Amino acid sequence: MKLSSFKVALTVASHFACTSGQTSVPKTLPPQSVFLDPRSFAVLGPNGQFRNSSFTEFFNPTSRKPPFFQIFDPDFLDILGPTPSFHEVASNAAFAFAHEAPIYVPETDEVFFASNDGGALGNSDLTHNNQVGKISMQAVETALQDLKAGSGTAVNVSVTEVVLPDTIQMTNGGTGPLKSSLVLITSGRGPLPPSIALVNPNAPHNVTVLLDNFFGRQFNSLNDIKIHPATGALFFTDVTYGFLNHFRPEPLMRNQVYRLDTTTGAVRVIATDFDKCNGIAFTPDGKIAYITDTGANSGFLGNNQTEPATIYAFDVDPKTQVFLNRRIFAYTDTGIPDGVQVDAAGNVYAGCGDGVQVWSPAGTLLGKFFIETTSANMVFAGDGRLVIMAETKIFVAKIAAKEGKVSFP
Ligand SMILES: *[C@@H]1O[C@H](CO)[C@@H](O)[C@H](O)[C@H]1NC(C)=O
Ligand SMILES: *[C@@H]1O[C@H](CO)[C@@H](O)[C@H](O)[C@H]1NC(C)=O
Ligand SMILES: *[C@@H]1O[C@H](CO)[C@@H](O)[C@H](O)[C@H]1NC(C)=O
Ligand SMILES: *[C@@H]1O[C@H](CO)[C@@H](O)[C@H](O)[C@H]1NC(C)=O
Repeated sequence: MKLSSFKVALTVASHFACTSGQTSVPKTLPPQSVFLDPRSFAVLGPNGQFRNSSFTEFFNPTSRKPPFFQIFDPDFLDILGPTPSFHEVASNAAFAFAHEAPIYVPETDEVFFASNDGGALGNSDLTHNNQVGKISMQAVETALQDLKAGSGTAVNVSVTEVVLPDTIQMTNGGTGPLKSSLVLITSGRGPLPPSIALVNPNAPHNVTVLLDNFFGRQFNSLNDIKIHPATGALFFTDVTYGFLNHFRPEPLMRNQVYRLDTTTGAVRVIATDFDKCNGIAFTPDGKIAYITDTGANSGFLGNNQTEPATIYAFDVDPKTQVFLNRRIFAYTDTGIPDGVQVDAAGNVYAGCGDGVQVWSPAGTLLGKFFIETTSANMVFAGDGRLVIMAETKIFVAKIAAKEGKVSFP
């Protein structure tokens, strides 16, 4: 895969400079950051060097070495605060140990996550389950404490495997904690069914499976899940990636979004008509839902950048909880938007082809946590700490933003 950086001249087109004046260039930038005024690359001209691929070429006009903060709108400064930092904190070049399902457990100050299921460097397939692991945020803090501010130096904190019962097969998503349990969503493997399960974060890591079928039919390969802030119901996505990554049979149902009422056990579809519905998140008040559509990535069928790489927003109907008024929220310029999280202020974070991209509630791209490699998901480890999954790496950014509502202790 060719990985080239896209370069443009950073000159502001004069007609914007005359007429605008709304967005002013920040006087002081925080450490590890670059400000890219959208006006500076609005016109590339007939001899400009244009990007042909959203999957193999990055938008890094200043060719800065990652990790760093790419700021497109001064409002990103409120998210970063005056003294942010951004470091790689764990890595294993041979194993995509940090794919998705990031969950922060405050009691032990640990972040749980799952390795890639069926994809590159996942060490998992039709005959091998994937792995759940965890890191200690205390160990991360200790490793980072002596580093020079703004250095971005990498450290390597150890990852502990979490050995789970065999009922958990191909973990792909997770959220919570919900009443002290991790909520894992699994894709299933071969004939073993996809499921939603509660998992004790502490040994013996016992499991209670909440759901593994839709009126007797197996799901395709369940993908991602969130708890609705107002009702506590579980909302989750089902999509064909298990089949497209060669570890599940041919799909039997549409790619769609479901709701499980954990009190009554009732399951139903609350949104449909996607190519590949994937990540899910709610605003802290539960009134708006975000669903990513990663149709541009088709596993063994390859990437097609004319297909969706899109985040949709919906209103959650107060009566039925069906997702209403679907509208485009964002379209990523690099890769696909996979997992999504919403911070306390309603900003939307998505794992994309070049790191974590952040949009305001109004859909303006504010900035990126730029790592020049794919992030499939991320989670706040309490206020001000963003833990970014990046397949063979984990990054931690210390920022000013506060976490949204994902845990229900
Ligand atoms: C994009 O494609 C055009 C037309 O094939 C080519 O001239 C150009 O060099 C390509 N750009 C990059 C960055 O590869
Ligand atoms: C980090 O440590 C792990 C073992 O915990 C090792 O496999 C990996 O290669 C190390 N990464 C680097 C960059 O040294
Ligand atoms: C694990 O077992 C304990 C002790 O029986 C129980 O209280 C807890 O609810 C179980 N957790 C899960 C997720 O099954
Ligand atoms: C990519 O998707 C478009 C739109 O669905 C389709 O027309 C085109 O044939 C696809 N390209 C490839 C190479 O599959």
